[in-house]
Amino acid sequence: MHIDRTSAVPLHLQIAAHIRGCILRGAFPAGTQFLGSREIARELGCSRTVVLTAWDLLYAEGYLESTPRGSVQVASVATSHAEASPAASPGAAPAHMSNRWRSLLGLDYETNWPSMFAPGAPDISTFPFKEWSRLLRQTWQNPREQECLDLPAEGHPRLRSEIANFLGSVRGLVCSPEEVVVTPGTSGALDFCSRMILDPGDEVWVEEPGFVEARWALTAAGAKLVPIPVDDKGLVVSEGIRRAPRAKLIVVTPSHQYPLGVSMGLERRLELLDWANRNDVWVIEDDYNSEFGHRDSMIASLRSLDREGRVIYFGTFSKIMMPNLRLGYMVANRHFIAGFSKGRARIDVHTSGIGQLALAEFMREGHLLRHLRAMRRVYTSRRRALIEAIAAQMPDDLIVSSAVTGLHLVALFTEAMQARMSDRAAAAALKQAGIHVQPLSQNFLEQPTRQGLVFGYGRLCVEDASPLLARIAACIGSGSRNAPSKSASSSLTARTIKRG
Ligand SMILES: Cc1ncc(COP(=O)(O)O)c(C=O)c1O
Repeated sequence: MHIDRTSAVPLHLQIAAHIRGCILRGAFPAGTQFLGSREIARELGCSRTVVLTAWDLLYAEGYLESTPRGSVQVASVATSHAEASPAASPGAAPAHMSNRWRSLLGLDYETNWPSMFAPGAPDISTFPFKEWSRLLRQTWQNPREQECLDLPAEGHPRLRSEIANFLGSVRGLVCSPEEVVVTPGTSGALDFCSRMILDPGDEVWVEEPGFVEARWALTAAGAKLVPIPVDDKGLVVSEGIRRAPRAKLIVVTPSHQYPLGVSMGLERRLELLDWANRNDVWVIEDDYNSEFGHRDSMIASLRSLDREGRVIYFGTFSKIMMPNLRLGYMVANRHFIAGFSKGRARIDVHTSGIGQLALAEFMREGHLLRHLRAMRRVYTSRRRALIEAIAAQMPDDLIVSSAVTGLHLVALFTEAMQARMSDRAAAAALKQAGIHVQPLSQNFLEQPTRQGLVFGYGRLCVEDASPLLARIAACIGSGSRNAPSKSASSSLTARTIKRG
């Protein structure tokens, strides 16, 4: 063997790795005896201690044993292991995976996270990192011993209480801290709730088109997803009743349907709740974007219309702060919370405690509200700039669907555009040109009934909107991008579908 003195790997580990490899390959069968350590050290040009340290390691791992006469030989157990798995190569995927996990891997979805047009990405350039890092330092400088041990499965009591206050003032949702659970974001909460509520094969209503990431957690829980169409008043409840009358769970985004952006009308909300109550069905309300809306124009959440504790309300800090925090919350009735927390404590104990107390202080000191107010203005002007740029550059190709709040909008294809190309073809052509926009059709489970592009604008600077749309129009547009901007801005109102 050759030993490499320039390598960062210590010599004894290099020797041990070489001998181990030979044994596993079957090159040194059981009983193979080695020369004495002095002789090996001389041949390799290293100290005897290096060889003895390597031997110690291989003894401990069970590859070597000593003979009654004190020499070193390959142990029989080691070779039987090598024979049993001759083809095993380090890092190879395990042969068995559950069907649920396999179906998860089979789902095709392209995220465009680094793109300017990523739908859920917030702008963090003005995030108050100074305050955030001060509070992280402060809360960790001298923590109470109890807080370094396990937290309650429901989350830090101070954070639960701040979230309840926040929901009351920002969302008009009245709840007590005992009804709040701190979650690892919406995706994580959905993972736990679907395992808690569903047995494999149970039916779930999901919106069509809908939030693909929600479907992943449901799929991993073995749920049978039943796509229910969304029209300009939100989820079509009557279709849900027709398609899956025995569903156990409904997952909806009523305030700002993902991705179309429509808001579910009151009548539909009451119809949904009424059916869920009569059929003992849980409803998950993903209220992912409503903090960006204004209270005056906000429609009451499903949770606040719910008199029977049927609705499990999800919120997230991914958009009003940043997604890598992996922090969100859930509001539900106390019985549900008790069952949830007890079960969850047995799976992953609780959401990471690293940021919980700092976040509670961040909220208590008012930094979150201040940041949110500032970002509402920023996102409103970005949305307006994007809508104007779409209307100016592609009036005959794209129609902006309901776009009143949030961080993204959908530009639906006109019939003429649809006749020219599919949204997947458009997205592929744009990607070639270095612009990464998601096709609407990837949000459908079944045959897409609409074509369009999903534009995130959280990170889109106002001044970039028009040049970027000009590039998009040059790449996939019908050539009408030279329309005068005056007529374009009047077509904006006409071409923006009113929210339901
Ligand atoms: C509809 C919807 N719900 C929730 C979320 C947030 O998910 P999480 O809290 O897991 O980051 C997103 C993020 O893109 C979303 O689009």
